[in-house]
Amino acid sequence: MATATERLAEALPGGGELAWRAPGRANLIGEHTDYNDGFVLPVALDLATYIAGSRHPGSLRLRSLDQAGEVVVDLTTGQGPDSGWGRYVAGVVKAMLDDGVELAGFDGIVASDIPIGSGLSSSAALEVAVASAIAIHPLEPLRQALICRRAENIYVGVQTGIMDQLASAAAKKDHALLIDCRDNTIDPVPMPSGLEILVVDSGASRDLGSSAYNERRKECELAAEAMGLGSLRDADLERLESARRDMPDGAYRRARHIVTENQRVLEAADALRRSDLEALGSLFERSYRSYADDFEASTPEIETLVSVAAATDGVVAARLTGGGWGGCTVNLVRGHQGGRAATGIAERYEAATGITARWWISSASGGVRPVATG
Ligand code: GLA
Repeated sequence: MATATERLAEALPGGGELAWRAPGRANLIGEHTDYNDGFVLPVALDLATYIAGSRHPGSLRLRSLDQAGEVVVDLTTGQGPDSGWGRYVAGVVKAMLDDGVELAGFDGIVASDIPIGSGLSSSAALEVAVASAIAIHPLEPLRQALICRRAENIYVGVQTGIMDQLASAAAKKDHALLIDCRDNTIDPVPMPSGLEILVVDSGASRDLGSSAYNERRKECELAAEAMGLGSLRDADLERLESARRDMPDGAYRRARHIVTENQRVLEAADALRRSDLEALGSLFERSYRSYADDFEASTPEIETLVSVAAATDGVVAARLTGGGWGGCTVNLVRGHQGGRAATGIAERYEAATGITARWWISSASGGVRPVATG
């Protein structure tokens, strides 16, 4: 299939006046820790959403080359679609109005290379791209991410943390981002040279809007409350054990995942800095087990994909990435072996499950930026 930029060039001959690129992300480690004031370590991907068009007074009018329907949003009220991809667009306009951002009308097209619903933040990339296109003055990355999270939390209704929007808005090329989600500070960690990022889509669909994500968030809050804490960031295993009987077993196990995962994120950032591939492998493995067993966010297909990858030459580390219940695995692969490893993984995955997996080898890309049009 043609890339998003090729399809855009065909749909907008001569290009629009203005265009931006907002990347998707793979989270290396730190799952569901963001809304618990913890640590995450995402990388922005080469897969991205593009928006291109021209200024148009008073309203935002968008068509997508990937999804049906034209979306029109009134820029003074934020009134627009309340279903489909348009609800993310209308949500961004409303959140920008709430924050007092000066808006400019825009008439354009969006096209994306990010698979939808695969856990690579296609919705955050769309939100960040739209916010870039309609802000009269460029937004500071953290403010842009907070506005886009608000769009998702308040207007779409999924209680996500800040990771996806912040990765898309603020990523640094060739770096992973160690984000402290308590104060949203970012510490860029250089990716070891020669290490390839391989993302494999299990092809088993996931839907963040489904209640599981919000339920997990509630369980985490319940566990923190039972310990008398504002968030799980301040918990340690000792405190959790002593409060074990004050909470349902589910909440206890979700909290155990969060507490141990925060520690693994910090260790993984250190291991990346030292290019300690063995340590990374072990941290990814423990993170995946905790995510699957304590957080119960894996699926049989993902279990197969992770174990097939772990037994593949060149693969240093493999785990489920993103919101959970299907979607993609993120794998770190020794230099230039990514293609061979991916083919091997896909073959064995298909033999075991009958599903043809898609995969991408990516560098760690930069955050949202204007791109040349035409
Ligand atoms: C989704 C959310 C993020 C984060 C991850 C899980 O991607 O948007 O905020 O919670 O799930 O780590």
